[in-house]
Amino acid sequence: MSPAKDSVVALPRTRKQRKRFKRKVKIKAKRRAQKLEKLKERENVTPLVKKYWLQRYDLFSMYDVGVKLDEEGWFSVTPEEIAARQAERCAGAGVVIDAFAGVGGNAIQFAKVCHRVVAVDVDPNKVQLAFHNAKIYGVEDCIDFIVGDFFQLAPFLKGDVVFLSPPWGGPSYKAKENFTLDLLKPKDGHSLFQVAQAITPNIIMYLPRNLDMLQASELSWLSSPPLDVEIEENFVRGNSKGITLYFGDTALHGSVRLTGCIVDKDCNIGE
Ligand SMILES: C[S@@+](CC[C@H](N)C(=O)[O-])C[C@H]1O[C@@H](n2cnc3c(N)ncnc32)[C@H](O)[C@@H]1O
Repeated sequence: MSPAKDSVVALPRTRKQRKRFKRKVKIKAKRRAQKLEKLKERENVTPLVKKYWLQRYDLFSMYDVGVKLDEEGWFSVTPEEIAARQAERCAGAGVVIDAFAGVGGNAIQFAKVCHRVVAVDVDPNKVQLAFHNAKIYGVEDCIDFIVGDFFQLAPFLKGDVVFLSPPWGGPSYKAKENFTLDLLKPKDGHSLFQVAQAITPNIIMYLPRNLDMLQASELSWLSSPPLDVEIEENFVRGNSKGITLYFGDTALHGSVRLTGCIVDKDCNIGE
């Protein structure tokens, strides 16, 4: 005879017991639902993004609170530590235009330190994910989300800093020995820079670590007199992840004092 058949389940008799029993059932159901959700999430992790999923907390420290990414988002989002560093250069800025906002990795960090962020992406799904992720970080009210092509929208945009993290052409960019600006998508780096320059000389570009440095620094010569430029290599846990180019007032020792006010986490303007 199996012990399971013999065991008697004590049914709750008093009101207090019934209440406690109901609460226990609820908690168990909640835990089961959470487990299922996690399993479902892991099922969505395709072999292509598995490597990036393992780095999820480097990408978004609040990942477990419910951050969402699509496949392209997994391998194209700027790691949080790097995005925060890039945003530091714009602390106190009026409006930062994030021209290729993706799932919001950079826009969220800009929103923490700037007055306003305009986050543009051509993919409506990305914009939805960026909005969702910004809500998790509590900064969605500081960001204007726009679905559209940056090249078409640029003539109508005004901003104090333009941030450019265009597609690098997928993970295959790593195979190139020297990543030249013509490999950027959807347009080459020179055309992109010129479009951004028509808005402001304060431009930040996030590009692959195998970037042709000479070609990149020559972008400053597209302006007369040439713009200040600073080149920074970005690491996470000792691994090189990319190169950030800071132009104009975003270059070190330059100042991006635009509105004279600093905005705290809750988007309140301070002195
Ligand atoms: C490298 S990802 C940006 C990642 C972003 N910095 C982040 O941290 O989440 C590049 C993004 O550019 C978007 N994109 C491509 N062409 C575009 C265009 N013409 N205008 C605006 N966005 C574009 C893609 O949909 C993609 O989400």
